Amino acid sequence: MKIRSIKSTKDLKGKKVLLRVDFNVPLKKGKIIDDFRIKSGLPTIKYLLNKGAAVIILNHLGRPKGKVTAELSNKPVSQRLSKLLKKKVIQLDEVVGAKSSKTVKSLKLGQIVMLENVRFHHREEKNCKRLARTLASYADLFVNDAFAVCHRKASSVSAITEYLPSYAGLLLESEIENLSKVLESKVKPKVAIIGGAKLETKVKVITNLLKKMDYVLVGGAIANNFFKAKGYEVGKSLVDDEYVPVAKKLLKNKLIIPEDVAVAKKISAKSKSIVKPANQVNQSEIILDIGPKSVKKFTTIIKKSKMVVWNGPLGYFEIAKFKKASSQIAKAIAGSKTESIIGGGETVQLIEGLGLKNKFSFVSTGGGAMLEFLEGKMLPGIRPLVKR
Ligand code: 3PG
Repeated sequence: MKIRSIKSTKDLKGKKVLLRVDFNVPLKKGKIIDDFRIKSGLPTIKYLLNKGAAVIILNHLGRPKGKVTAELSNKPVSQRLSKLLKKKVIQLDEVVGAKSSKTVKSLKLGQIVMLENVRFHHREEKNCKRLARTLASYADLFVNDAFAVCHRKASSVSAITEYLPSYAGLLLESEIENLSKVLESKVKPKVAIIGGAKLETKVKVITNLLKKMDYVLVGGAIANNFFKAKGYEVGKSLVDDEYVPVAKKLLKNKLIIPEDVAVAKKISAKSKSIVKPANQVNQSEIILDIGPKSVKKFTTIIKKSKMVVWNGPLGYFEIAKFKKASSQIAKAIAGSKTESIIGGGETVQLIEGLGLKNKFSFVSTGGGAMLEFLEGKMLPGIRPLVKR
């Protein structure tokens, strides 16, 4: 896929650039608990400033559904950005309106302004052209660096491109390049590891990856659906009953399910963890992790591989004892020579907690966007930027 890159614009000097970012970061009591997405967006902002542009940043935080919601204000985000850039970021308290319009009009070269959470505007998620036109009137060109929200049709992601010359930022370009490799690279063997809780959100990606990869290793609660499809007892484990027939269809040679599991009577740090073969779970038990034999098998496959993509933890990773398999797999990938591409909020949180983040070849900022990209879909935020 050839994308129109910001690097292809010759003349940024004196231009006002509307920059869509996805700094939708986790907050606890108003404080940012992980600024990975903000840090990932810095190269594009610095690039624009170095070229002599003024930058107007558009960001969303959470799901305020068109309502001004104090706890979801962009303020902590612009403060953190300002700290990281060592530069003032002017924070506005509205998305569009008289104040925003006045501030952006008087914006000087090298200045940065951040509009308020774009999802405070009731038209944003409707992909409304009127809102897109107003936003476009603030700038000379549009740069999308918000890969993580490219799967959403929204005014500041999609409709906006109809009103301004539009380009991909450096992060978006790098996301497309790395995730395209997963689907297109001819290296062999290529391995996908898919974990997480809900099969519903992973069916399409597993289906596409079964076509593109040599192995698809499955863990987390989604594996329970495959156990059930094989006729195993899964006790009180989480299962998407509606998706068990789908799981049955996906059971192919390339799809590797765990051979053993760790179970407990309750989801609690105090519960005893018992390892057993996946087909010997009792009615009273809950599957909370994959077992050591499965970890060994997955590790052998990983070590032989030339490329690994991983999304979703393999166990109930909020409880330390059920994080074991995910941690061992993370270490196996980090210690191998394989090209490794990882993504999804929980998976990134896991490798960050283990201090392994910089041991992976590429860490995606996308959650849902990464999955939809790997499904083989053309995302609405990317489509308008593709060179024809
Ligand atoms: C994300 O966190 O995955 C993106 O920011 C998209 O958020 P959304 O799922 O609320 O659209």
